[in-house]
Amino acid sequence: MEKYLINPNQKIAKINKDLYGHFSEHLGRCIYEGIFVGENSKIPNVNGMRCDVVNALKEMGIPVLRWPGGCFADEYHWKDGIGDKSQRKKMINTHWGGVVEDNSFGTHEYFELCRQLGCDTYVNGNVGSGSVQEMSEWIEYMTFDGVSPMAELRRKNGSEKPFNLKYFGVGNESWGCGGNMDPEYYGCLFKRYNTYCRDYDSKKHISRIACGPNSCDYKWTREVMDKVKHNANGIALHYYTVPTGDWGHKGSATVFDKNEYDSTICKAYKMEELITNHLAVMDSVNPEKWVKLIVDEWGTWYDVEEGTNPGFLYQQNTMRDAIVAGLTLNIFNKHADRIMMANIAQTVNVLQSVILTDGEKMIKTPTYYVFKMYKEHQENTLLGSYITTPMLNSVNDKKDFPQLCESASVDENGTVYSTITNNSSTKSAKIKCQVADTKVESITAEILTGECHEKNDFEETENVKTVPFTDFRKLKDGFTAIIPACSVVKFVINK
Ligand code: AHR
Repeated sequence: MEKYLINPNQKIAKINKDLYGHFSEHLGRCIYEGIFVGENSKIPNVNGMRCDVVNALKEMGIPVLRWPGGCFADEYHWKDGIGDKSQRKKMINTHWGGVVEDNSFGTHEYFELCRQLGCDTYVNGNVGSGSVQEMSEWIEYMTFDGVSPMAELRRKNGSEKPFNLKYFGVGNESWGCGGNMDPEYYGCLFKRYNTYCRDYDSKKHISRIACGPNSCDYKWTREVMDKVKHNANGIALHYYTVPTGDWGHKGSATVFDKNEYDSTICKAYKMEELITNHLAVMDSVNPEKWVKLIVDEWGTWYDVEEGTNPGFLYQQNTMRDAIVAGLTLNIFNKHADRIMMANIAQTVNVLQSVILTDGEKMIKTPTYYVFKMYKEHQENTLLGSYITTPMLNSVNDKKDFPQLCESASVDENGTVYSTITNNSSTKSAKIKCQVADTKVESITAEILTGECHEKNDFEETENVKTVPFTDFRKLKDGFTAIIPACSVVKFVINK
């Protein structure tokens, strides 16, 4: 029997709702078809945004959405995406399939989408191929309420009032697709571009996000932090889980054996090590901890589904992805004191999506249900918690990883939320939970579980979904439970 302790006396930090954020790039069928179908589409929409997708994302509790990239951001020229749609410049989306981008989804459409979703905004600017002036004018266009050329242009295009911009990214993957820069050079550029990203409303500071490291590139973190620590509010780590570790043959989203399953979970668990180590580097450069960590791209990355455009990064999603999502969100919760935001890649039809579409059809993936189950953690207070766990071994990685991962939070009424993943594809786990100094009145629970290959598709849309969980026994100060293999469980504990 594993021991699980939740300590309501140990209130660690507020869990920023933006840890549950999402990312939508002009890539494949994410924005176009997945979200935006245009006003004249047969698919029910409001101002071009498909209603089924918007409703599902709202129900899931989407707190913030990053746009327009990704690699696309450093080739995007925002002025091509405003004004009369018939006059908008067409461009080649060179990174993603070489398709024509007609710019029909631009700045106004993005803010309209976020208005419909009721979520916060995170726009990523172009350092790689854009000028300081272009970036500066975009900020002016989006946020200035007075008289100026860009504010007038925005009004002419239909938005009298400025948009509400919460986060602004100064470049994306500047170590790679965003310009192949060295950290020192990028750090200097950040300072230069950022100087002209004005806060036009003194009451609304736009959080500035610097391009952070790829995976375990600690040198990047150190050198960029050294330059940006006085100006950036966040530095953005990117880490993808590639089961085979080989970008040429990443592995299939749906066909995998036990070793590949274990390797996927083991590699996803690396997020814990990356966060801990990057924070240590950040703290050594900036002990005052002015800069927060952001993980604005994460998730599984497999080979594309057969017969689909390799540049569109379309992949299915199984219970394996649900486990990756559940354990990763638990890791983020545990670091709530230093992580400001995280954004899974990507919202619809690209990589580890929460939604897949096929024309007018839409399905929710196992990952969707995890985000929905965890949504009460948003803005709750992280509690001290600890679980004993057997270790599992990834044969392919020659490395151990824990079978159980958990986090716990409390809301303002004192209700405790605990989310646990059983990362094993074969073994259940017995746990005994004690909530310190607490008389437990009642407990409800729900579970997402299934054989690790199980998925939803357009024939069986609800094969995997959350159901009530009853295999637990309430004790006066906690509970005992059997957590099935390959499952994500949420306990709601009332005192
Ligand atoms: O999410 C897909 C791509 O992965 C993004 O465009 C890029 O930033 C990263 O390499």
